[in-house]
Amino acid sequence: MSATTLIRSALVVNEGRSVQADVLLRGGRIDRIAPEGIGSAAGAIEVEATGHWLLPGVIDDQVHFREPGLTHKDDIAHGSAAAVAGGVTSFMEMPNTQPQTLPQELLEEKYRLGAARSVANYSFYMGVGSTNLDEVLRTDPRTVCGLKAFLGSSTGDMVISDERVLDELFRKAHLLLAIHAEDDPTIKAELDKALARYGPDIPITEHPHIRSAEACFRSSSAAVERARTFGTRLHVLHISTARELALFDPGPLEGKRITAEACVHHLWFDDEAYRTLGARVKWNPAIKTAADREAIRNAVREGRIDVVATDHAPHTLEEKARPYTQCPSGGPLVQHSLVAMLELARQGVFTVEQVVEKLCHAPARMFAIGDRGHIREGYAADLVLVDPDAPWTVDRAGLEYKCGWSPFEGQRFHARVLRTWVNGHLAYADGRVRHEVRGERLRFDR
Ligand code: DOR
Repeated sequence: MSATTLIRSALVVNEGRSVQADVLLRGGRIDRIAPEGIGSAAGAIEVEATGHWLLPGVIDDQVHFREPGLTHKDDIAHGSAAAVAGGVTSFMEMPNTQPQTLPQELLEEKYRLGAARSVANYSFYMGVGSTNLDEVLRTDPRTVCGLKAFLGSSTGDMVISDERVLDELFRKAHLLLAIHAEDDPTIKAELDKALARYGPDIPITEHPHIRSAEACFRSSSAAVERARTFGTRLHVLHISTARELALFDPGPLEGKRITAEACVHHLWFDDEAYRTLGARVKWNPAIKTAADREAIRNAVREGRIDVVATDHAPHTLEEKARPYTQCPSGGPLVQHSLVAMLELARQGVFTVEQVVEKLCHAPARMFAIGDRGHIREGYAADLVLVDPDAPWTVDRAGLEYKCGWSPFEGQRFHARVLRTWVNGHLAYADGRVRHEVRGERLRFDR
């Protein structure tokens, strides 16, 4: 049972408004939000929060925690610990583990692992391969966040290229279909050119030319067209180019059948970062130009991008040091998504309310998570308390990541996560993760 907690005088940043209030957590739920204050609450632990911001816990709809099978890179215990240290209270995890999450049996095995090991609330995507549609269609929309298909290859070879399989999938998908959209033939042609020019040790600065804007557009535009044809509920992950943005409608999420996600690295870095950080910023899709980044930022503001996530996808530093063709794409991010987005708010790129909308509210609405992602009485007490002005610098010693590194090392952030509650349980406080806390399996009202 979680403790009763009284958070005093926090600035509650929620649903477009910021209001100072006392907030009482009881029985794992938000019991009362009182702008006029709460005199006392019997037996409550009191947290003095004057000058601090209370936000809904972040819901990250794209992480790779690598369990089972790739646990030298990350695992659910470390990934979820890093999540709560960063104010992320719920995550949705991807199927390119080993073995891949293609049969229902393995999907349920992941849920058992989540129940046993996750500090945060959890959901796991059902993987779509070229031959498992029957299994995919057995996925329960009320207890599983979505389906995940790779329409371009990345870590783990899960790519689907057969047009008939894709038609069947888009026609029959009965819950949200999240896709990785990059066109493999386009990438291969560019890779062959680079290999001819440089040999296998291609400079990392070539990455955005190999995994090109054209490769992204070809794949995502074809997927959007197919979704329009079949009425598919399509969610296009990690948009990385200006050109793709016209595929998505601006405005509120409600009523959209086709939605888009942007990731923190595409909002923060541009191709200059390859010169300083090398393969540590090698992602698929690649980080592209400053103009692309600017356009994605604008799309977040105008609603063409519906949610912001991390695509947290760790690899070891040893793996990242390999020559280009053997160096995997992806990096750890889940511990710093909230503070990085709040830093962008401080720089005037977004408002704090927009950050809360894209990281907390919108994922809850998009996935129909009925009682999370907002600070409302009766909702689950998934909350994060932030000091907006407590500058600090990311260093290795403070990382919860199993892989032991971050692309943000040396980065100074102004906002600091002070405490994170998961279902009313204090999961992170004073720089320490409470590893004994366990999150819940997410439920979806659909
Ligand atoms: O860079 C990436 N790495 N992009 C993906 O979509 C997959 C991920 C991984 O699993 O390593």
